[in-house]
Amino acid sequence: MPAELSPIDKAKFVAAKRATEFVETGMKLGLGTGSTAAWMVRCLGERIREEGLKVVGVPTSTRTAELARQMGVPITTLDEAKWLDLTIDGADEFDHNFVLIKGGGAALLQEKIVATASDRMIVIADAAKEVAQLGVFPLPVEVISFGWQTTKTLIEEALVSLDLLNFECLLRMNGAKPLMTDESNYIIDLHLKRVDNPRQLALVLNQIPGVVENGLFIDICDIVVIGHGDGRVTVRDINLGSETDDFVEFKPSKNIFADME
Ligand code: A5P
Repeated sequence: MPAELSPIDKAKFVAAKRATEFVETGMKLGLGTGSTAAWMVRCLGERIREEGLKVVGVPTSTRTAELARQMGVPITTLDEAKWLDLTIDGADEFDHNFVLIKGGGAALLQEKIVATASDRMIVIADAAKEVAQLGVFPLPVEVISFGWQTTKTLIEEALVSLDLLNFECLLRMNGAKPLMTDESNYIIDLHLKRVDNPRQLALVLNQIPGVVENGLFIDICDIVVIGHGDGRVTVRDINLGSETDDFVEFKPSKNIFADME
């Protein structure tokens, strides 16, 4: 087991662990991508090993698929599963309406398809991801590589038409080359500083030829599980209008950390 996790990693871990308590035998699950979702896959693997939990997961990236295999979480494709009971995934930002910005890990396309094809979506996050106003985190937009510079210009014109000023749109790089998503597309990060009308922005962006999908998740998330560095976990349910607090014991087992020593 690693000597000591940072408070932020503890927060991610407890959020992930608490969220896996929503998982029941027989469920078909969407498995998110990112560092918080990775804890969830690890915790799920532990429940499978220790409790004989029977589930099948649809990973939202090649990274998550690889981790699920390592952790002994059975996986399938969305085409095979068709519809899912529950998706658990991280987020880069969420607001009080459970609107999310996602795609910091470049997996927003599969993440949105999988979460939309699920009865429920649970977001797991450390407390720093909660914002009063979305948009400090740059909004990722997945575009096809063909003609991406024209697509970027059209995005910029659309932002101006929405009276958004002082923005910057940057092609996401991976070293000296454009970063490629799992679908071989590019990501343009929109540095907007604030998003006042996410619904309008999402609609406008998705009408631009060349835009595949944007990282705004609207009316998709049902429950947010927020982890804190001291082990406290807040569970907010938008449908029930409820908020509960409890503690998750930070007792990382050997299994969860087996490959991290
Ligand atoms: C992946 O594309 C993203 O949507 C992630 O879910 C998001 O970036 C959160 O990642 P972390 O859990 O690593 O912060």
